[in-house]
Amino acid sequence: MDFIFLDSGTGGLPYMQFLKDSCPEAQCIYLADTKNFPYGEKTPSQIIEAATCAVQSVLAKWTPRAVVLACNTMSVTALPELRKRFPDVPFIGTVPAIKLASSVTKNKRIGLLATNRTVNDSYTDNLKQKFAKDCVLVKRGDAQLINFIEHELFDSTKEEQINAVLPAVDFFVKQDVDTIILGCTHFVHVVDVIQEAAGNKINVIDSRSGVVKQALKVAFSQNKTNFDDFSKPVSDRTFFVTGLQSSLEEEKYEQICKYYNIPWGGIL
Ligand code: DGL
Repeated sequence: MDFIFLDSGTGGLPYMQFLKDSCPEAQCIYLADTKNFPYGEKTPSQIIEAATCAVQSVLAKWTPRAVVLACNTMSVTALPELRKRFPDVPFIGTVPAIKLASSVTKNKRIGLLATNRTVNDSYTDNLKQKFAKDCVLVKRGDAQLINFIEHELFDSTKEEQINAVLPAVDFFVKQDVDTIILGCTHFVHVVDVIQEAAGNKINVIDSRSGVVKQALKVAFSQNKTNFDDFSKPVSDRTFFVTGLQSSLEEEKYEQICKYYNIPWGGIL
């Protein structure tokens, strides 16, 4: 196995898609920790425990070249602890693209749209201090929009999508930012909708390219040759979840898999 992608839900799918576009031969497993969604409303210790269980369950089946935490909340709160608990696993984290934003902004006013956990975490303040000291960082946690994306996006009309992103976009427009960072992977599903609602005076940016570049570098610079798996997937990508409430919910995730043309793996 080349890559395992982890998120609390479907947020990491655009990241896996981006990686497959850059490296079509890559073999990927995706695990959505649906049992513990949403991570953004949990305490750091709850996130660490949930992420640890998710990592354990994938490592029991596969030996990946790299594990991509396609979740800002998981990366910001749990990455150091995961590296301690799984010292042999090369992890790639996903954090808000504050460095990129500071190189793009002209008026030095940057918006960060993320989970409540990410906007309140000291890791985010440290990123701002390190890479955007001379900028104003306007932060917004938006659990409602994340919930819409996880549970309603794929059945929604364009009008419903615009209505869902408008509170966040209006908030940032009022704060006069010229750059909005999508600091939660879920928002990348609606990057075009957010960009359209924000207009062409605002740049909407995300971390896909940086994360994928790093993942490919880490995975293919290793000398290890034995990546044999105990249980090989039948396809070059498979999507698993950790738990679902009902068969209706299961159908929904299966539909999402169809939309992305990824085989549905069921509950891991
Ligand atoms: N997609 C996740 C992130 O990038 C978080 C969503 C959630 O709250 O679970 O932060």
